[in-house]
Amino acid sequence: MTEAELYTVYKGLYVPNLVHSQQSLKYYEDFSFRSDDILIVTFPKSGTTWMQEIVPLIVSGGDPSSVETIPNWDRVPWLEEHRACILNLEQRPSPRMFSTHFHYNMMPPSFFEAKPKVIYVMRNPKDVFTSSFHYYGMASFMVNPGPQSEFLHKFLEGKVMFGSWFDHVKGWLNAEDKEHIMYISYEEMIMDLKDSVARMAQFLDKSLDAEVIEKIAERCLFKNMKQNKMSNFSTAPREFMDQTKSEFLRKGIVGDWKKQLTVAEAEYFDAVYKDKMKDVKYKFVWD
Ligand code: A3P
Repeated sequence: MTEAELYTVYKGLYVPNLVHSQQSLKYYEDFSFRSDDILIVTFPKSGTTWMQEIVPLIVSGGDPSSVETIPNWDRVPWLEEHRACILNLEQRPSPRMFSTHFHYNMMPPSFFEAKPKVIYVMRNPKDVFTSSFHYYGMASFMVNPGPQSEFLHKFLEGKVMFGSWFDHVKGWLNAEDKEHIMYISYEEMIMDLKDSVARMAQFLDKSLDAEVIEKIAERCLFKNMKQNKMSNFSTAPREFMDQTKSEFLRKGIVGDWKKQLTVAEAEYFDAVYKDKMKDVKYKFVWD
């Protein structure tokens, strides 16, 4: 099926119809943030699900009950997705935890007033591309990626769900009021998960013993988290996600793009990246 059949164009970006109704997009526009809300922001395939495991564990002081009993999409719901409208989020006690794939300039007015705590997770776009390529091949509500070279052009031109990785990252890096935003990368989390959890806990004003931080990090290691049925999408209907084609928690590593991209594709990617990111001062770990 094509983009026209599977996606809605919302504020110039593709969003998959299956989970983004007109009602849910409107719900987000009118959403009232609280200043103690916690918002995980990512471009898709940058580590959202991972964060939906880590953040609740930090907030609960290491108590695993919510991650063991509530599916990630209800535990830390995406505010733009249809489920957000039916979860009674207004009734949830603080601190509420949400996710979004929206760009900075798509945030609703209350975001700029309440200034909730944001954790923005970035990942090497070549690995985001690689992860997306497999994901688009297994999720029936996404347009089949087709040949890799074609999907590469779509990805670099922002003709994929949630638009351009470059615009997403640049928009969030240029956010005003950066005091309420923590920037972290997937690569830093892979390199030292304990340190990353400790830094996030500090940002969230949650003082945790070293032992608790260690337990959270251990639980959130790829091999352990992959076993959690509430986080590995194994309860998602097969007609939507066919994990026999590619698992949702697929490899969980840094640098898989080296196996995916040809030398010419990687060079082309680098050239586009260099041009699009030429004015960005942020020092990414992958540069
Ligand atoms: P791969 O496809 O490269 O394996 P998102 O949740 O934003 O859709 O991102 C999915 C990517 O994050 C997948 O990458 C997935 O395997 C990876 N991921 C999820 N949980 C992880 C974990 N605990 N450790 C490392 N990577 C994880």
